[in-house]
Amino acid sequence: MNRLNTLRPRIYSILRYSDYSPAGRHWQSFHLGALAVGILAVIFLSIDSLPVDVRHGLRLIIWVITIIFFLEYLVRLWVAPEISRLDHYRPMVARLRWAMSLPGLINLLAVLPAVMMGVGYAITGADAASVFCILWVLKLGLHAPAFGTLARVVSNERAPLTSILILFGILLIIAATLAHILEREKQPDQFGNLPGAMWWAVVTLTTTGYGDVVPVTVGGRLVGAGLMISGIAVLALMTGVLATGFSQEERRREYLRVWDLVSRVPIFTALGVVTLSEIVGRLRTRYYPPRITVVRQGDAGDSMFFITSGECEVRLPNGGSVRLGDGAFFGEMALLDRQPRTATVATTKPTTLLVLYASDFYEIASRIPALAEAVEVEARRRREENLERLTAQKKA
Ligand code: CMP
Repeated sequence: MNRLNTLRPRIYSILRYSDYSPAGRHWQSFHLGALAVGILAVIFLSIDSLPVDVRHGLRLIIWVITIIFFLEYLVRLWVAPEISRLDHYRPMVARLRWAMSLPGLINLLAVLPAVMMGVGYAITGADAASVFCILWVLKLGLHAPAFGTLARVVSNERAPLTSILILFGILLIIAATLAHILEREKQPDQFGNLPGAMWWAVVTLTTTGYGDVVPVTVGGRLVGAGLMISGIAVLALMTGVLATGFSQEERRREYLRVWDLVSRVPIFTALGVVTLSEIVGRLRTRYYPPRITVVRQGDAGDSMFFITSGECEVRLPNGGSVRLGDGAFFGEMALLDRQPRTATVATTKPTTLLVLYASDFYEIASRIPALAEAVEVEARRRREENLERLTAQKKA
């Protein structure tokens, strides 16, 4: 029982779509791979002219993937009480609530159509139901955190988005009415009624232009020209609102992420909340797998790094090396001395870094002398250590 109690949170953390541990990453790669193969198999199975053997193989692939998804569904159901927003419910209630949530339903939808396909195939021998397996694409959405962001952006920007939609509606109805009046005599089939004219207006306003309905009178063409230009403006407005909303939301999320991480860096914890809030806005998070070179000796230095979790190895020019762990920083020497990087630094474990760009570093250093001083003291110590190593090496 005790082992189960420790296993459940571990498995939950691996299955979370935002887990950056090696096991979590492996699971995500495997899951994405299975989805891609499954979706391709469904697409190819819809080609009736494929040889029987190939179709048989594709059916087998779909079945194997369905079994994987079914097992995944059961495991997700089991670990549901670990989800933080459900952890105050009794386990069975938490599981039921997860099953009724959007991710729960999407995971269920990934299993049901394949079962239908199997039953359908067994009864009729036809693969018709396999088309429903294409619902697996919904599972891809669970891997995209941007969908959550999109929902929040639409909610945050609902006032300007509603105004743009109203503008769209006004343009559409005015243009359709004018085209109906101007064109109905020449083209009664296309513009004889308002719904027909509205179809033309939608196709024109969205700048799609199928060309199935085209105004032929001078007046109708002028209305069309005006509508096309307005269409570009309306779409540009919509794009602008969504793009700004996205970048603001992303900045907010990054701020919270960084705020969480700075507490792991001792050099920051000594600063007051107000000072810290200034720095947090300038830091960016970066996740690195093991054995990735973060800075290379001799390169120009444009940023410094703080390790919030993981480990990096500093490969010194004299052949020695130093390991830096949680809370340490590197890359400061090139910024302080305005010289190329003095050493190569690479990750040895999965590592999360906070990046501070040079321009922000200089500004912060001038405004927060205590921080600049602490960085300079450590840089001085490192320079001396490197010098000592070099002298010892020469003597040897
Ligand atoms: P920089 O020269 O910008 O890039 C390489 C970095 O390695 C350097 O800044 C320091 O942050 C770090 N570094 C160099 N020497 C040492 C050392 N002896 N101990 C720890 N870190 C070092």
